[in-house]
Amino acid sequence: MEDIHKGLIYTNKFKNKKHSDLFKQVVDKGYCFLETKIDSTFCKNLIEDLEDLRGKSPYNITNNAYQGVFRSPFIFFNSYRDLALLKEFKKYLIEFFPNNYQLHLNRCVESKPFLNASTNELHRDIPHLHTPSEYPISISALTFLNECEDSQISIYEGTHKKYFYDLERANVLKLKPKAGQTLIFDSNLIHNTHPSKTDIKYNLFMFSSPIIKPIVDYSSPSIFLKLSKNKYRYDEILDLIGYQFAVPKDDYDYLRKELNDC
Ligand SMILES: [Fe+2]
Repeated sequence: MEDIHKGLIYTNKFKNKKHSDLFKQVVDKGYCFLETKIDSTFCKNLIEDLEDLRGKSPYNITNNAYQGVFRSPFIFFNSYRDLALLKEFKKYLIEFFPNNYQLHLNRCVESKPFLNASTNELHRDIPHLHTPSEYPISISALTFLNECEDSQISIYEGTHKKYFYDLERANVLKLKPKAGQTLIFDSNLIHNTHPSKTDIKYNLFMFSSPIIKPIVDYSSPSIFLKLSKNKYRYDEILDLIGYQFAVPKDDYDYLRKELNDC
């Protein structure tokens, strides 16, 4: 066979290979729950670790429109690194993104009875894309950390593709996830979270094809400095945040990287 770029080999196999049920449901309906749950001890650790970030700007700002959001906890806490690197996530992410992916965003949202989270409004997690894609170019993994008797999230089935331009025709589902469950969805699926009667938290990781700009540049010197202070699963995290996809500053920078890879 002729020389062929390895990315093309994966692409050629992608469409006709046998896909998992989760993959098929996310492609078809836009969402699916992960079959495995994280246990209550893990949920508790994730909730408790956040208290160390409370009120620390820019990771958690109180008394403004951004309150209720904890930004990028994986930078600091082993618990969030373990969650980001969960084997079950990786298994499916490789299936969605055979040519690789990177962490696009990590936020943990806190919903309180008298404090609406910003995620209460209807939205897409990638709001700037104006066309649907046949297969997801970004996957959202939303893990629910608290038990809650009420529905926590509404999703608009098919708005990632079939009803991309036609929100009104979509079937609306109100979901009542259990603590530890993770909802995997195409980031183009329209959804919103609900005001809650009790304090609840849910963690979002978005993983995307490296063609999309991440929400913040995790390869920035300031984040790199903070990340490197915690060596827990450090190499895996560097891999996940996509240092390999950082745009070279110029042709010298590009060549330096290419030559180092040889
Ligand atoms: Fe969202």
